[in-house]
Amino acid sequence: MTGLRMLRIALWGAIGLTGVAFALVSTGLLPKLDATLDATTASVNEIGGSFRLTSHTGKPFSDADVKGRPFALFFGFTSCPDVCPTTLYQLSALMQKLEQEADRMPVLFVTVDPERDTPEQLASYLSSFDPRIVGLTGTPSEVNTTTKTFRAYYRKVDIGDGDYTMDHTAAVYLMGADGRFVATLDPHEAESAQIGKLRRLLGTSL
Ligand code: NI
Repeated sequence: MTGLRMLRIALWGAIGLTGVAFALVSTGLLPKLDATLDATTASVNEIGGSFRLTSHTGKPFSDADVKGRPFALFFGFTSCPDVCPTTLYQLSALMQKLEQEADRMPVLFVTVDPERDTPEQLASYLSSFDPRIVGLTGTPSEVNTTTKTFRAYYRKVDIGDGDYTMDHTAAVYLMGADGRFVATLDPHEAESAQIGKLRRLLGTSL
């Protein structure tokens, strides 16, 4: 055996070993990576789905009413002292900037306080904001099911004297035309960035 041939065998052996090592690392690590990706993808894919509620005009309103259209949705309640009115005010401003483009993107405000937020109460409350915003309420069970559909959190908090407030997920969900979760709207972002996000959702800008 020549020195060159021995070197070749040694080199191929090294490559072979590297391959085996790579395969071991791959089989050892990739399942972990896949599991992480699956978990992330699954939790995002689990946001959204069917819901059945009543609008502030007293009419039934379900996921079928936004089918094939991108939409924005957030949970709140009309007695909310701070976050909800601020969010509604900001959304109204964005919708006014988008003008008629916003007609193609329903904005849904789902109450987590159906005991107090009747359709009439929602209608009265929403009269201070963009008239295109749809208020939604339902039976406590329908509301609870809807929060689960969107993986949202809410909790009744006793504040004494028989009064209560609600803790709730404050995120504005941006849902694609296919009914899938796309992103949340970040109220701390510049308005132009938020407009850009909504235009991308509407497919009118890249
Ligand atoms: Ni609120």
